Parts: sequence; C-alpha cells; structure tokens
Amino acid sequence: MYGMKKHWLIFCFMPVVFAQAQSTKAISVVSGPMLGQVELRTASIWIEVSSDITSAALIYWKQGHPETSRKKIYDGTLGKEFNPLRIDIGGLEINSVYEYQFILNQEKSSAVGSFHTKDLWQWRNPAPDFSFITGSCAYFNEPVYDRPGKPYGGDSIIFESMAKDTAAFTLWLGDNWYTREVDLQSPWGLWYRASRDRAQSVLRNLLKNMPQYAIWDDHDFGPDNSGSSYGLKDVSREIFMRYWCNPFYGEDQKGIYSQLSYSDMDLFLTDDRYFRSADEFADSVNGKPNPEKHFFGQKQLHWLEDVLVQSLATFKIIVVGSQTLNPMSRDEGFYKYSYEYHELMVFLNENHIKGVLFLTGDRHHSEIVKAERKDNYELYDITVSPFTSGVAKVRGTEINNPARVPGSLVEKRNYARISVRGKKNERTCMVQFVGEDGKTLYNWSVTEQQLTR
Ligand SMILES: [Fe+2]
Repeated sequence: MYGMKKHWLIFCFMPVVFAQAQSTKAISVVSGPMLGQVELRTASIWIEVSSDITSAALIYWKQGHPETSRKKIYDGTLGKEFNPLRIDIGGLEINSVYEYQFILNQEKSSAVGSFHTKDLWQWRNPAPDFSFITGSCAYFNEPVYDRPGKPYGGDSIIFESMAKDTAAFTLWLGDNWYTREVDLQSPWGLWYRASRDRAQSVLRNLLKNMPQYAIWDDHDFGPDNSGSSYGLKDVSREIFMRYWCNPFYGEDQKGIYSQLSYSDMDLFLTDDRYFRSADEFADSVNGKPNPEKHFFGQKQLHWLEDVLVQSLATFKIIVVGSQTLNPMSRDEGFYKYSYEYHELMVFLNENHIKGVLFLTGDRHHSEIVKAERKDNYELYDITVSPFTSGVAKVRGTEINNPARVPGSLVEKRNYARISVRGKKNERTCMVQFVGEDGKTLYNWSVTEQQLTR
C-alpha cells in the first residue's frame, strides 16, 4: 500500500518536476553542440554551458548499435562565467556514423548530434572527392554598442544556407566575430564577444552539421588592423583555443597556426596577427626590404616552409586572414610586408613546391587574384568575404585591378564551396562563390597540372 501511494505521488508531481528540468536544460546550454576536429578514429565535440553546470559528460555510440555506448567525462573546470568545453573521444571505427548526447549535471540534455569518421583511403583507394565551405567576416548586430545608423551586420540567413551544404567541413577565414569598443579593453569584453556571438541561434545547424575549423584576423584577435603589440593578445589566444577545436595552436604557447588535411589536400592555417608588425612600419630601409617588419614572424614562416616542403598533397592551401598577392589593395596584406613576402616567394620557387593556392578573407568582397612568376606557374589568392558584415565595394584604381581574374569580383555577402574532384594526376580544385540564398554567383577551377612548373 505504501509503495502504491509513493508511485501515485511521484506520478502526480512528475509533470512539474519534468517542466522544471526542461527549463533548467534550456538555460544550461549556452551554445552548441559544435563539431570540432573529426578524424579516422577520433572526434572532438564542443559546447558552452552556463555557470550552474557542475558536471559534464558525453555519451556516444555507433549509429544503430546502442550496445557500443561509451561515456567520457569532462575533467576541466566548470562554474565560471563563460564555460566553453570540448570533449575529445578516441577508439572510434573508421568511416562510421556515431551519435552523441551531452550529460549535464547528471541528466541527459537536449544537446545531441552525430558525426561521420573519415575513411582510410590511403594505400587502398584513390583520394576521395570532397568539398568544404569557407568564408570570413561575420558581424552580429548589438545595437546598444554598435555604431549608430544603418546596422553593419546583414541578414544572417547565409548560415542556414551553409548548414544545408553537404560539405566535409567549414573553414572560418577570420573576423569570425567583431570585438567592439566595449570589448577591447578587458579580458571580460573579449570573452563576452566570443560567447555572445557563438550563441546566435542562426549558427546552430551549421555548427552541428559538420566539423568547424578557423583562423583569425584582426577583429576576432583585437582592434582593427591590430598585431603583435595588442596587450591582450594572449587572452585572445586563450579564447580562440577555447572556442575552436583546431588540431593545435602555434608553438611555445604563441600564435594559433595549425594544419589540417583532408583527402589529398593540406591546409596550412596561418596566424597573420599574433606576430605581425604594425602596417605603418617602414616596408623598406635604405632601398631594401625591412627585415624588422614581420607578417608571420620568422618562427612561423620557417614552420610554414618546413610543412610545405614535406607536404605530399596535390593541393597545398596557405590559409591567411589578410589578402596575400594583391598589389593594388588599399587595405593591409602580405604583399605589403616585402621582406617575408619575398622570402616565401623565393622559397616556393627554389623548392619547386607544386599545387600551392592561397585562401584569404578580410576584404568584404570576394575575388581571385593572380600573381605571375618568371619560369613558374601562376599563383592564385582566393579571397572570400563577407558572411554578414558590410560589403565594401572596390574603389579607385583597384576597380580595374589587372591582377584580378576577370569576372571573379563578387560584391555581395557570400561564402565559397571549394571542391576537389577527378582521377589521380588529373585532380581539379573548383571554387564556387555562393550567395546568401545558396545560389552560385561565380565558378572558377584550376587543375593540378596548372599548378606545376
Ligand atoms: Fe580583417
């Protein structure tokens, strides 16, 4: 009898308890889940939780096989004002779909998703065809702190279009959020901006549907056009590492450069801010390039040269926040850092590095810029910008930039889908600039033979 009463009482109060638990869960997940790096046998899953969460864990299982379920407990600190966390799991099977669910405060949460591990094609099959999506400059309006007048940020629907893409991953090319005057003078401000922008609901599907990788540029590093002298750069670095799941972040606790590989493409994710001298530094001294004016910094540049010369990939993508090859840009770019620019160009020539392409952002328009080289193949810089920030129309003499691939200029909000297709020794890299509505605005391609001397 007593037992019956107890069950009846539980039944009566259950809807109230359930409703309270539901509302707690809704507050507990600030943003995410987001897929981080997914490899052959490992995956990283990211989420940000509120300060009331004291424990977090991930359960995951091979799709259709609940008996394979395993649990990984988060062993980092929780309960702070901002609590982004990632859980890294291993021991997965290749080319398999896994499902996951976060457990927060010992309860199953609404943060669920799935991912697909990479296939082991090496030594077995031709390099798989694949595509990824990419772009830069995401501005989410916050009118109380924004410049008065017309909002700088536009329709964020582009992220829903991107979320529907079947691409292998997203690569964010910098200015992934915009720190404002209210953010730049304190660590709290920098943390606030990353947390607030990541939590925008329009990002939810994109973050969950495919792995997300990133570099930064000035606005998500610090002030406009900032570089190595920004006093909070190590706070920015810590935030970057906590909000993105790149494979690694620079060397010796400095910078955020990293590397990704997918099929027969290597992507070298550079850091164009942490080590960078001010744009205003003299570019030449006594008629010679100024060796004190850094863009990548010598350590990162040597790393880049080392990984390039070792790379066996058909396409070697050097990913940079600022443009690299454009001789006519009014804005900052690698081209205006003559010493390191010259060093990298000489290195590429002398070491006969094949298959190099540059991929950049920042400009608030998209275009492809070509650099001709004596006795070597032409280099291309694919610039993709902006996602949602204001479009900057090309002005003055740059309108008729002879270095631009004719027809490639896109002065609309857009992203790019970059695809690699074709048989061995006949691989092609295709670039599509895609508008907010998912419609193609421009197509361009280059073959691996074109990127060979
Ligand atoms: Fe920028």
